[in-house]
Formats: sequence, structure tokens, C-alpha cells
Amino acid sequence: HDAAQILVASNRGPVSYTPTGDGGVEARRGGGGVVSGLSAIGSDARSLWVCAALGEGDRHAVRQGVGEDGVRMLDIDPEVHAAAYNGIANSVLWFLHHMLYQTPLEPVFDRDFERQWEAYRTYNRAFAEALAAEAADGAAVLVQDYHLALVPGMLRERRPDLRIGHFSHTPWAPPEYFRMLPDAIAGELLRGMLGADRLGFLTRRWADAFTACCAQQLGGTDAAVTAVHALGADAEFLRERSRRPDVEERMAELREAVGPGRRTIVRVDRTELSKNIVRGLLAYRDLLTSRPEWRGRVVHIALAYPSRQDLPVYRAYTAEVSRLAAAINEEFGTGDWTPVVLHVRDDFARSLAAYRMADVALVNPIRDGMNLVAKEVPVVSDEGCALVLSREAGAHEELGEFAITVNPYDVTATAEALHRGLMMPAAERAERTKHLGAASTALPPRRWFLDQLEPLRS
Ligand code: G6P
Repeated sequence: HDAAQILVASNRGPVSYTPTGDGGVEARRGGGGVVSGLSAIGSDARSLWVCAALGEGDRHAVRQGVGEDGVRMLDIDPEVHAAAYNGIANSVLWFLHHMLYQTPLEPVFDRDFERQWEAYRTYNRAFAEALAAEAADGAAVLVQDYHLALVPGMLRERRPDLRIGHFSHTPWAPPEYFRMLPDAIAGELLRGMLGADRLGFLTRRWADAFTACCAQQLGGTDAAVTAVHALGADAEFLRERSRRPDVEERMAELREAVGPGRRTIVRVDRTELSKNIVRGLLAYRDLLTSRPEWRGRVVHIALAYPSRQDLPVYRAYTAEVSRLAAAINEEFGTGDWTPVVLHVRDDFARSLAAYRMADVALVNPIRDGMNLVAKEVPVVSDEGCALVLSREAGAHEELGEFAITVNPYDVTATAEALHRGLMMPAAERAERTKHLGAASTALPPRRWFLDQLEPLRS
């Protein structure tokens, strides 16, 4: 086959496979901005997406030679992948950039960590080798996220002719926090990324933090330039998708669970430590305690979809979310009112249904690269929605002016913000939702993607 002119590399690819039981596999295509961006390239340039086989189904597919056009899945040794993905990417780099460590106890950088780091190198090298083998002369390569921070440097060594971009979908740690990493590894990580021609971030805040880390660790950078591409919501897709019958069905189910005439506070997240779901529930409990007039008149719909359940701390967090929701229902619930409606099974149609009927959307992450929920709700909302938004979400930079801003650690203030959201007059809500919608769709996924590609191709 022909060498590729445009390549994307990411840990999680645009397709995944599940075993069917009869020895075969079934493909499921993922959505998301980069997928639609790639489809926008057209047929004049050959493109290829390199990703990792993530589970048994994926590995099965690779070994059977099953695959989609334009996608190459890497069958990396499962132990190497687990150490790199669970060990380094999700337990070290994710924690650093989201500032999730409980510092008296964690992190501990010991010899186990060094072994995992070696696996992270091996896994990054597998990507660099595949990209080097598949790329045409002078091709553009867009490497995604903290999983693949070493790829730009490794690829540049092998193929100096390529134009390489890297994009971080997470925040970037400030230098005082980043320096918890052992110096040699901090340096290796930064130099790995600096192998790229351009380093993309979701906000100026994260880009500046990266530059500050380089200044601290390496005495500055002169190679790669940072760029900000504030990924927005895909209005066209969301409006059409959210009007389909399966979404209407889910709305009917949710309305039934909420009960007639009640207001709704909606949140939709992966059960992710950084999303701050537990403090959100504590704030809701505070609202019902400090303002008892809301009892029986509001329902908190919390859609918290399982994520990274291989990590014990994520399993414990998911359990705590369920426990606390049940405790609130136990304490305040009555025969015909369930204060918290919690769903833990992933269901996109239900998420859109909840978006449409939200009176208040609660987006209170401890720290978040962007947070697309905050940008999606105003686009599909039926009657306007008040947005309670953490000042630590990247989206706050664009949406803060029209949202109700909270410090995500301040449970009392979050409860007051929920009250303010519920009390907001309909006309003001509609007006703010209009502004939020416009700001949220300023840079749709396709343009976000093409804006990064263009400077690498000229
Ligand atoms: C974040 C990361 C992505 C990741 C996603 C889901 O948005 O930036 O790279 O794919 O979370 O996490 P997962 O570990 O399930 O891929």
C-alpha cells in the first residue's frame, strides 16, 4: 500500500473490537473530533491512524488481519501496554497534570516506577517505529496526548524529513508540581515532546505551564513552538443527533424518574477523579440541607460512566459516588421523590436527553483540559440552561463570562451556585445559553483539526 501523507497517532483509536463468542470480532466506531477531522481531509491525501490494541477483542482483530481502511492497530505486549497505560500514563502523568496526588503519601518514585517508565519508552517506541515505516516523504504526523509524549523525539530521530505536531488534551502541570518527577525523567519527557515542530494545547494557561516547565527543567526551549487550539463542540452533529427518536425515548424515561414539575440539575462525566463528582454530590446535599425549600422540587441527574476501572483508585471512587448518591436518597427521599438519579452505564442517547432537559448543568472539575460537556449542553438545551462551571476547567477561559463560576473545592459556594442557577429567571437563562452556545462552537472539531494540520503541510 501507499505511504501515508497525513498520520494521526493516539493510544485509543477510532475503532474498537469486541469478541463475538464464535471466534470472530465486531467493530465499533468511536466518535469525537479527531475522527471527523480526519474524514474531512478527503481522498487527495492518504491518511492513516495509528493506535494501540486495547483489549482482547482488538488483539484478536489484529491477529486475524481484521481492520478498517486507514487504521493501523499496534499489538503491543499486553504487559508492556498495561505498565505504560495504567502505570505511567494514567497513574503518573494524568495525576501530575490534573494535580491529583495526595502528596504526603503519593507519588513514590521507586524502582517499580523505573520499570514502568521503561515500558512507557517501549510503547512509545512501537508507535515511533510504526509511524516511521508508514509515513511518506515529508508527511505530517499529529501525535495525541500524554500517552505518547516521547514519540515526537523518537520519530524525529528516525525520520528528520517529517513534520510533527503533538497535541495535549489535558492541562499541563505548573513547574512547582511537575518537578516532583525525577529530574532525568522530567527532562526526557519534555525533550521528547520538543521533538515536535509544534506543540498544541487547549488553552494558553496549559501552553504557558509547559513553557515554564521547560524553563525550569531545561533552561528554556528554542525548538518547538506552542500553539493554542481551543477545541469546540460540533453543533451540526449534536443538534441532529439529539433530535433522534432514541433520545426522545430517553427523555421520557428521565422525565418519569424526575417526576412532574420538578427542576433538574444535570451532570455527565466519566467516573473520573478529576471530575469532582463527589464534591458535586456534597454540594447538592448541602443545597437540600441549607435551603430546604428545594426538597421535593429538584432532582440531580448524575450520569457517571465507568472509566479506567483497572485502577483500584478509580474503582473506589466509582463506589464512593454510588454510596453517596444512595445516602442522599436515603436521607431526603420520599415516597414520590428520588433526589438523585444516578446512572453508571454509558449511554450517549441518555446523555443528550439529560443535556436537553437540564435546568442547571454542573461542571465542577478539579482541573480539566477543556471539558466538552460544558460546551455541548448549551448547544442542545431545549429551554436554556444555567451553567455552573469550575474556574479550573479549560472551557472557563471562553465560557466564564456567561457561566456561574465556582472554586471546585468550595462545596458551600457550589451549593450556593446551584441555588443561583435554579433561581435564574428564564429570560436570563435563555440569553446566557445563547452566548454560551456561540462561544462553545467558535472552533468546531473539523476546523480545530485542520488548523493544526495546515502549518505542518505548508
Ligand atoms: C481524556 C484523554 C484521552 C482519553 C480519554 C478517555 O480525554 O485526554 O486521551 O482517551 O480521556 O480515557 P481512556 O483512558 O478511557 O482512553
